[in-house]
Amino acid sequence: CGIIGYTGPLDSKKILLEGLSQLEYRGYDSAGVALCMENSHIRVIRHTGKVSNLKEGCKDITEVSHCGLGHTRWATHGGVTTENAHPHRAGRVTLVHNGIIENYHQLTTEFHLEDKLHSETDTEVAAWVLDHIYQGDPIEAIAKLVGHLKGSYSFCMMFEDHPGEIYAIRNVSPLVAAYTRSGSFLASDLTALIPYTRQYFVVPENHIVKLTSYQTQLFDLDQKEQEPELLEVNWNTESAMKNGFPHFMLKEIHEQPDALKNTILPRLVKGLPDFTDDQIPDDVLKNCNQIHVVACGTAMHAGMAARALIEPLLRIPVSVSIASEFRYEEPLVDDKTLVIIISQSGETIDTLAALRLAKHYGSKTLSVVNVKGSTIARESDYVLYTHAGPEIAVASTKAYSVQLAALYMIGCRMAYVRECYSKDEARDFMKELLDAIPAMEAMLEKKELVKDLVSHLIQKPDAFFIGRGLDYAFSLEGALKLKEISYIHAEAYAAGELKHGTIALITDQVPVIAIATQEKVFSKTISNIREVKARGAFVILLTKENAQIEKGVSDIQINIPDINDSFTVFPIAVILQLIAYYASVGKNLDVDQPRNLAKSVTVE
Ligand code: G6P
Repeated sequence: CGIIGYTGPLDSKKILLEGLSQLEYRGYDSAGVALCMENSHIRVIRHTGKVSNLKEGCKDITEVSHCGLGHTRWATHGGVTTENAHPHRAGRVTLVHNGIIENYHQLTTEFHLEDKLHSETDTEVAAWVLDHIYQGDPIEAIAKLVGHLKGSYSFCMMFEDHPGEIYAIRNVSPLVAAYTRSGSFLASDLTALIPYTRQYFVVPENHIVKLTSYQTQLFDLDQKEQEPELLEVNWNTESAMKNGFPHFMLKEIHEQPDALKNTILPRLVKGLPDFTDDQIPDDVLKNCNQIHVVACGTAMHAGMAARALIEPLLRIPVSVSIASEFRYEEPLVDDKTLVIIISQSGETIDTLAALRLAKHYGSKTLSVVNVKGSTIARESDYVLYTHAGPEIAVASTKAYSVQLAALYMIGCRMAYVRECYSKDEARDFMKELLDAIPAMEAMLEKKELVKDLVSHLIQKPDAFFIGRGLDYAFSLEGALKLKEISYIHAEAYAAGELKHGTIALITDQVPVIAIATQEKVFSKTISNIREVKARGAFVILLTKENAQIEKGVSDIQINIPDINDSFTVFPIAVILQLIAYYASVGKNLDVDQPRNLAKSVTVE
């Protein structure tokens, strides 16, 4: 969910609605605002659907307000209805919430709330509990509230008898705050603050923030004031806008070559990857006997591709886990394990829990994160920041390729310090990594070709992505991309495994996107492609320019430049992203905000 709060001289309605549009990618089932009016009366407006519905619903409000809260929801407890939309009011309290209150049921009984609730949400329960505890001192009441709640949350609150003031508490779910000449701001992420400030602070866990129009104060749970640690925004306003592209996703696909340069070049010293400025000592890379990568979604797929490259290179075990599984297992990690955590947002709750578990087992933790100051970045022993800039489209694109670039650099540095690579070999590796950038650019030029070929996909309910080795790892991401934004059911399959059952699904109604860029398994993959072709499949083949392929293997072939096999993921990723993008556009769907999803998943 997205949260925003503002108090200050400006028109709060305008700021909240603009902020919610920026935060909409965090959830878009419903949205609402609470405005503290001149006469201290709090007015709540809520609508199901997108922020645009809320904007429409707020059009008639002429009275100016200088303090308010806003929320855009990704439903957890309770369906998508106006009653379940935030803000929630309970007596003197009005609040918005991101996260889940696990013990809401017990609290309902304990505080006798059955007859008071208007919604099915855990949030409203928390609001009534707070109202019950509240005796006129907001900070004291919030500190007490924490003792009653189980779960992960951030709340942003207003109290009827404290007009012009906003309070917030964070235990896990992210919150950032800023004081500017135009007032005080609070949001669940930086994108909403970029238009107003270059300076902000991350609200530390279990801390309370108080905003007034003239200051922003931070308190711990003992109600002692604390000095916030100020950070500088390193993104510009433009980077969170579409800049002439019809969708954020297409813009972000195009930003990949630059994102890669920004991530790689500052860490290249005399042709070698160098993490001195990142404060990652070589010892950490040298003294581990296994690597365990943990992440969710696209970030996990970046881990899968990196594993296929790094394990044979280093000759040590490299495993990849889905964070939501890892955290409930008894993982075989110890103080000799380097746990690499990958997360664009740095806030995904399962990934954060996995990080904490890895630390508990004594592992060294290195995170690959895009958002500066995010919780995962702060809690990891070491951080390697990717420099993709803000990624707004829910379907991840540029974050994936920079995560890969970062992981490839880690692999290269490890190979070098562990003497699997000589200096020259490591330099060659980095040169080849850089060669992938023009190869990506060349794929962007093939946009129109991809646009045309999606006509073979969009009428079909299913599609398969097949490949072997690294190509299989790329297929996983290709299938996920297509599923999440075009709603075409897609499966990624290791090409050689297809014949052990799944080939039964292949008919002339099931297009197959086959990836064959790995010399080692090339002829084997081609044989598997022939097998699906023989069952009538329409085959789109992604391969290298110089590949020797007889006629009739595929129906459409897209060639990537002839770069080293280990780096083909970069141009292939562009093609796979464009396929998903144009399939979604071709079906007239909401590319940037596909149904049921949210970009940053801060619930378990
Ligand atoms: C959500 C997003 C995915 C993303 C995943 C992990 O599910 O929709 O695009 O890959 O979370 O996010 P993270 O911020 O941890 O990389």
